[in-house]
Amino acid sequence: MIPVLIDTDPGIDDALALLLAWGSRELSVEAITTVAGNVPVEVATTNVFRLLALRRPAPPPAVAAGASGPLARALVTSPRYHGEDGLADLPDWPEPARPSVLPDAVALIVDAARRLQRLLTLVALGPLTNLALALKADAGALPLVGRVVAMGGAVDVPGNVTPAAEFNFHVDPEAAHRVLAAGLALDLVPLDATRQAVLPRAGMRAALARAPGPLASRIQAFSERGFRIDHAGGAQGMMLHDPLALAAALDPTLVEWEPVRLAIGGDGETRRAAGEPNCRVARGVDTDRFLRLFLDRLCPAS
Ligand code: RIB
Ligand code: CA
Repeated sequence: MIPVLIDTDPGIDDALALLLAWGSRELSVEAITTVAGNVPVEVATTNVFRLLALRRPAPPPAVAAGASGPLARALVTSPRYHGEDGLADLPDWPEPARPSVLPDAVALIVDAARRLQRLLTLVALGPLTNLALALKADAGALPLVGRVVAMGGAVDVPGNVTPAAEFNFHVDPEAAHRVLAAGLALDLVPLDATRQAVLPRAGMRAALARAPGPLASRIQAFSERGFRIDHAGGAQGMMLHDPLALAAALDPTLVEWEPVRLAIGGDGETRRAAGEPNCRVARGVDTDRFLRLFLDRLCPAS
């Protein structure tokens, strides 16, 4: 079992990545930390508890709330894609049970890094604010982690927020810069790869039809918004940005990796730079194998 800590800003594709993680026996989801990104951090945290109540993974992970905004600029959220509540603004989510007080995400990340060290894989699916704050709190902790796998960046392809910047790195460029400068075992899964991870609507429908029930119905309901918007943008289905990053943490052979030195521009652009590599970047994707893995694990028969 691979112990993982998932830092996330759910978000429709984050939710699908969490469900993939909980459906993967190779992973032990030790903890989930939330960060402001797609939605404010309080909304992201509520969504984690909504998804826990829906999926009921055993044992449940620790949950900690993280940064309410980027290190050095105002928060930019993405309600146009994810909805105001981050999960497609469905009218009928039950109010999830949740502790009245939550641990702090940065402390939990530092503790997990020092406790599990090389055994831990840290998967970052939102802006890297919490990781940058963990480096500030304890510079020696994150470098102990076996792998840091982050969805973010656009290296040789256009961005999805500005012509050159991808959303997670655009929201907090300062955090992305600090994480890239920290000497971590960093595997980046940028738009160059995730735009190849396109799930046709028919594939999702067929998979959910094999496991009818409340979980399948809820996945169908919130993911429909992602299909609609990505289709309208010209894609042949929904782009599974965060699920691909989670899958690359689970099975690194799903993508081809290129060691690269990246520099972060003022708007979160990821530019190739001269010098020693500071990360690996996912390039080619075994899309068919990834989609089979994703659909096999997303929604187990109840
Ligand atoms: O650019 C895609 C990334 O931004 C994904 O993580 C998505 O959830 C949004 O956070
Ligand atoms: Ca995300």
